[in-house]
Amino acid sequence: MKLVQHPGEMADLSALWRQEGRKIALVPTMGSFHDGHLALMGQARQLGDRVVVSLFVNPIQFGPGEDLAAYPRDLQKDRGLAASVGVDVLYAPSAQEMYPPGFQTTIRVAALAKGLCGASRPGHFDGVCTVVMKLFQQIMPHLAIFGEKDFQQLAVIRRMTRDLDLAVSIIAHPTVREESGLAMSSRNGYLQEGEKEQALCLYRAICFARELVKTSPFPLAAADVCGQIAENINTTPGCVVEYVEIVDADSLESCETINNNSRLILAVTVNRKVRLIDNAGLVEL
Ligand code: PAJ
Repeated sequence: MKLVQHPGEMADLSALWRQEGRKIALVPTMGSFHDGHLALMGQARQLGDRVVVSLFVNPIQFGPGEDLAAYPRDLQKDRGLAASVGVDVLYAPSAQEMYPPGFQTTIRVAALAKGLCGASRPGHFDGVCTVVMKLFQQIMPHLAIFGEKDFQQLAVIRRMTRDLDLAVSIIAHPTVREESGLAMSSRNGYLQEGEKEQALCLYRAICFARELVKTSPFPLAAADVCGQIAENINTTPGCVVEYVEIVDADSLESCETINNNSRLILAVTVNRKVRLIDNAGLVEL
């Protein structure tokens, strides 16, 4: 596996692969790899002839007071993990080269990025879209894989790709969970052992909602289900709901009643310091 750190070198390599007719698969990441990231890389390996994993802790998607400085970084460890699943290039540019002095362009997806995480993290999805657009330009992938774990991010990137006619197929990978059900996340490293148990309130909420949907007569009011979930979470010691919503999986607009395309999506803060998100479809098809 090759480590590439300069955008120009990455673009040259991609141009060469394209000339050779290779299909390029990209997995954008911020590093600190866990089994969720590795599963995306495994899928990229199956779908592409050349697999690029970008590793860039993108400063412009972190708000003031968020965890940019504390975000876990271990290039050597990540390098070994990416190589072990057959990645061809680990692309890790510097912030100086990604955002040189004078940089002033932003990509904004309007409505989809407004609610849910966008409401409490203003500018976050602008930062995500801008960096993903730059990565697409530098790497010129035929396909890019994103996790359903970050469901709003996936929807926003899909919209940007359609709206700007980008010739990249966006592929979704299901959420990878620990055996306990906790969705894997680089931020789980902030949790102490006991807090992992508290963090299970997100997965329990998903199981509760699925069971309710399975056993209740339709129509089922989304607000009632969300209300019960919020109460369950807020009575878990140390856990505070930031939002619990049931939305249409495509428009991310709130559903009044639950249907086949409804998605439960939630954000919870554990012990005032670790913010966790999760989501799931509610109707087994
Ligand atoms: P990061 O949080 O490192 O996640 C990289 C990719 O891994 C994202 O597509 C995310 O949805 C996916 N992922 C994370 N945990 C997962 C899990 N448990 N199961 C499945 N997929 C999972 O998301 C970002 O980085 C950044 O916002 C980025 C898109 C790289 C732009 O900076």
